[in-house]
Amino acid sequence: MKITLFRDERVLAKALAKDIAAALREKPDIVLGLPTGRTPVRLYHELGTLHAHHEADFSRATTFNLDEFLGIPPEHPGSYRTFMERHLFSRVNLAPERINVLNGGAANPDEECRRYEAAIEGAGGIDLQLLGIGTNGHIGFNEPGRELAARTHRVTLRASTRRSNAALFGGDPASVPREALSMGMSTILHARRIVLIATGKSKARCIGRMVEGPITTRMPASFLQVHANVELMLDDAAAGELAVGS
Ligand code: F6R
Repeated sequence: MKITLFRDERVLAKALAKDIAAALREKPDIVLGLPTGRTPVRLYHELGTLHAHHEADFSRATTFNLDEFLGIPPEHPGSYRTFMERHLFSRVNLAPERINVLNGGAANPDEECRRYEAAIEGAGGIDLQLLGIGTNGHIGFNEPGRELAARTHRVTLRASTRRSNAALFGGDPASVPREALSMGMSTILHARRIVLIATGKSKARCIGRMVEGPITTRMPASFLQVHANVELMLDDAAAGELAVGS
């Protein structure tokens, strides 16, 4: 894995936004995989700024979000669709028909997962998958466990994951849906390039285990070790438990 360290999250977000703008110039019809969460917020705002300065053109790009809560409609204020509208989609010139987010309000969730996989394949696969990481090592909503699912699937969220998403639901973890839909490990690992971003001390332990520990379903992000084109972009705090960061 290539590891790049940054002084702080602002510098990291600026560098990655420039990298994505360059990728858009090189391949205007690029297919991007996108995370939500606190970590990419600054990146999305930087992309909005680059777009406003005519330095990032999304008009021919396609996006696929990693995951979505189950049992709430896309327009729910806590949905990841709403999050993405606020932080990215409303700030850049993506064509609405090329924005893809799993529909958490779908009548048939299993069918929705199959539709999503087919849509990714139909778009030619993901060129650049951006990822965050949960403190427990999850990527997307692929939670640690005895086994992991390959393809887009329905998941039961861990209590810790529901707690860390409480802010989207008025601060109340009990209001966070118990289930979600998520791209699977194979969906993620089929991306041609993967960039995982992590900032802050709370991510240091899982980053250390992901990079230097064994590949195990107990640490889903450890599977990134088998991918040939993965870059980790970390601030110094998140790299604190890596041999390279000490
Ligand atoms: C969300 C997602 C999650 C987050 C992870 C980290 O779409 O894919 O895996 O990346 O939970 O979240 P933050 O950035 O809030 O620490």
